[in-house]
This record gives sequence, C-alpha cells and structure tokens, in this order.
Amino acid sequence: VVARSLLSVADLSNDEIVEVLDLAVAFRWVTISSLLRGRTVVNLFYEHSTRTRISFELAAKHLGAEVVNFSVADSAEAKGESLRDTALTLEAMGVDALVVRHSADGVPYQTAQWTNLSVVNAGDGTNEHPTQALLDLLTIRERLGRLDVNVAIIGDVGHSRVARSLTRALYRMGAQTTLIGPPEMVPEFTASWGGATVSHDLESVLPDLDVCYVLRVQRERGATAGSDYRKEYGITRGRAAKLPAEAVVMHPGPMNRGVEIDSDVADSPRSVIREQVANGVPVRMAVLYELLAGE
Ligand code: CP
Repeated sequence: VVARSLLSVADLSNDEIVEVLDLAVAFRWVTISSLLRGRTVVNLFYEHSTRTRISFELAAKHLGAEVVNFSVADSAEAKGESLRDTALTLEAMGVDALVVRHSADGVPYQTAQWTNLSVVNAGDGTNEHPTQALLDLLTIRERLGRLDVNVAIIGDVGHSRVARSLTRALYRMGAQTTLIGPPEMVPEFTASWGGATVSHDLESVLPDLDVCYVLRVQRERGATAGSDYRKEYGITRGRAAKLPAEAVVMHPGPMNRGVEIDSDVADSPRSVIREQVANGVPVRMAVLYELLAGE
C-alpha cells in the first residue's frame, strides 16, 4: 500500500487489496504486539458506530498504538469549533492517524487535504466505507474459497456506502453483483458502481447466488419501509431456503431484525454475520499497519 490515506476502495490496487486480506489473516490471532508502538490513532466519529469504532480501537491497541476516542458531544465543537480546526488541533498534538466517520459525503477527503495525517474513511455519508468492503471480501474468501462469486446486495442500496464500496471491490476481484430492491431504493445510477446489474425481482436471482448480502433500511437517511417491505424484499426463512446449499448470508450491521432480515436467517448456519464482525479487527489492523508502519 503506497497511499498515505485510505479514503476509497479506489485507493488500493487489486494486488494491494489481496495484500491487506493476507496480512489480516496473519494478524488474526495477534492481540499483543509493538508493531505500531509510538503511533497515535484518533477515532473521530461524528456518527454513531459500534462495529467500526470499536474494531479500529482494538486493531490499534493490538498493534501497540495509542488510541484516543474523540467524543464529539464533549468536544469544543459545542462551542462552535469547525471540523477543520478540530483536525488541525489534533495534528498539532502530534497524532499520526485520524479514523473519520461523518454523515456528510467527502469529510474524510477534506480532512486528508487539511492535514498531513493519515486518514482512514470509516464511512462518509452515502459515499464509501472501504474497510467494511475489505472485511466483507475476507469473509467471502474464507467461507467460499474464492472471490469470483455471484452476489446480490439487497435493500436500501441508494443510501448505502457499504454497497458502493463493496460493489466496486467485488468487481475488481472478478465477482458479479446484482443490486436488488424496490425502485425507490435502487435507483438506476447504482448500476454504474463497478459493472453491477440492477434488478427489482428478488425471487428470480436467489437460486443462483453465492452471497446474499442484506442491507439495513436507513431510516435516518430518509428511507421508509412499510409493512409490506419484509413481504417483498425481506430475507425470510422461505427465501433463504431458495439459496444454493453453500450460499452465505451477510449483513454489515446493525440489523433491523424482522424488517430486512429475519432472526431465523441471521442466526442460521449459513449466516456469516458474526464472522464479518470478527474479521473487522484483523482487517483494520492490516490497514493501520500498511498506512503507519515504517513512516
Ligand atoms: N457496519 C458498520 O459500519 O457498523 P457500525 O455502524 O456499528 O460501525
């Protein structure tokens, strides 16, 4: 990895994607090391998070780095300090990396321009979530043994930074992706994300899938799911039964059980949702190592 920051899947070559996945495998059981001793990582999260924030914190700690979790609610932002001044203030304190999540598209990119710090995009608006895509690729590779798979990403696609990053990453790895949901959730422009096909017919694609990737309905971004959503597009036990025997079900979390996915499916043997979460730590270790080691 030559880029100083990871803002988009596009920042990584195909070889670098594989390099991160392989390094994550090597890091899987590492919980104590001094590989990043002396480095400081700040988690700068302006949006809620459980998985991404905590896994970045664990990843940095496992590598021996110092970690600071920036609490927006307790910060000088309440006194009117801008995001740019916040980033410059953290840079002046000598931190090495900012892990940035924000509800607005592009904030991690701006932060990388304002400072000389390494910036990792931990999810910006509806734009990108590159480390989620990397941990998803690792999960697919480990369970299915390959990445040239047939994937359906189902649900609130238009609002999904996960779908955008994952579709691009899958395309680069030779996968075929179909984006599926009601027309208002899967606008035609999403077909430009890495050779994806758009469909509104869930039932017809299920029997051919290797990966059934379910998205949360993002009500905070204006999506609505009426009482018929589960009936039309929810991944129920009946729909999961139409998948091939080896196919896996994925979800980036947090889940709305009983809306886009039923508990029967989320907790079934074909679900790899907990494996996705587990892979988040070593994948983020690999990313932090590639960006910060040897600087
Ligand atoms: N998948 C994901 O980004 O989860 P969090 O919002 O909990 O970080």
